[in-house]
Amino acid sequence: MIIAVDGPTASGKGTIAKALGEHFGLPHLDTGLLYRAVGRQVFLDGGDPDDGGDALAATSFPDSMLADPHLRNEETGGLASRVSVHPAVRQALHERQRSFATQEGGAVLDGRDIGTVIAPEAEAKLFITASVEARAQRRFLEMRDRGVQVTLLEIEDDLRRRDERDRNRAVAPLIPAPDAMVIDTSSLGKDEAIVTAIKAVEEALSA
Ligand code: DC
Repeated sequence: MIIAVDGPTASGKGTIAKALGEHFGLPHLDTGLLYRAVGRQVFLDGGDPDDGGDALAATSFPDSMLADPHLRNEETGGLASRVSVHPAVRQALHERQRSFATQEGGAVLDGRDIGTVIAPEAEAKLFITASVEARAQRRFLEMRDRGVQVTLLEIEDDLRRRDERDRNRAVAPLIPAPDAMVIDTSSLGKDEAIVTAIKAVEEALSA
């Protein structure tokens, strides 16, 4: 069984996908980490994330990069969004995601194009969304706890920029698959969001 979980940054999709993996006993892949690793590698190489050639060269990042704590920061998130517009980068990361999705026993993957491109045959597809304000507020609290100096307005601006880029790129834009269940987590707490997602997957499986 493949479960596809797509949605914008800070929508709660990562938390939900991880919980679904635990609930259904499936391995989970955060595909955003792959794009983040490419973004980080471009930076380390001194390359230009908007240049297709530089970005493609960075897809040969070492596996150890996936454990680099820098992948989680906002700068790397921005770089990831920029390198992810290049079709050659998406192609280079495709096989890795596809083989994870099709492993025996199934898997949960979260990202932007899992239900539309990577695993259109997924038995359950969720599209997790939330208002920019709700997502910015969550990110703000998270960053404040980590001691990062940032304003709510700066985070909102950054999220809007990234959404715009992710939704409007020519290849594999961020859009719900036609058969995805859309869950808006703006007014849901973490546990409520997880319970709602589990129910949605169970519904999709019994349909
Ligand atoms: O989910 P995230 O914030 O870690 O993703 C970082 C960027 O990577 C996001 O802005 C767009 C890109 N991405 C993508 O294009 N396709 C995916 N399946 C996952 C992430």
